Amino acid sequence: KRIAIFASGSGSNAQKIMEHFKYSDDAEVSLVLSNNPEAYVLQRADNFEIPSHVFDRQEFYHTDDVVNILKRLDIDLIVLAGFLWLVPENLLKAYPNKIINIHPALLPKHGGKGMYGDRVHKAVLAAGDEEHGITIHFVNEHFDEGEAIYQGKFKVEKDDTLETIKFKGQQLEHLHYPKVIENLLKKYN
Ligand code: GRF
Repeated sequence: KRIAIFASGSGSNAQKIMEHFKYSDDAEVSLVLSNNPEAYVLQRADNFEIPSHVFDRQEFYHTDDVVNILKRLDIDLIVLAGFLWLVPENLLKAYPNKIINIHPALLPKHGGKGMYGDRVHKAVLAAGDEEHGITIHFVNEHFDEGEAIYQGKFKVEKDDTLETIKFKGQQLEHLHYPKVIENLLKKYN
């Protein structure tokens, strides 16, 4: 099975996924895509000798280039890992139920456009939430709204700070995203 990862930034989740599948007989990360030519994830892809493709708004929203590249490579699953742009309709249609995302909160709480990075964790603290966590979900035409596949939770303690809840969330992401992907791929023929 062949995986494509979309990421806009550092790509620590992408790193864990590339590590996880590096020696797998069943699946590989075949391509990393980004809207951001400066994204560190591109360096990480290079380190794994995985090809990458950078696109701009014009290409992503007004051409079929990206879909064509994915089809040509026979990509089975699209994994968003810190990818900040909305997925266009042509891509959703080409990969129905084959695009997943990870969000650093317990959706439907603290999701939607502009809710990423520290903003999410600040909102959790401001709301006084007793628990926090991560959601891995299918992608649809709205930010952070598709059906959930997996949620991981932890209790927010009195002495937790933005840094500590962020760290706990990242640990959960890094542990579970590769496994969820592997389990999902097992269901594909
Ligand atoms: C993660 O927290 C993920 O949940 C969110 O963006 C962040 C990406 O981090 N969608 P990284 O680039 O994988 O380090």
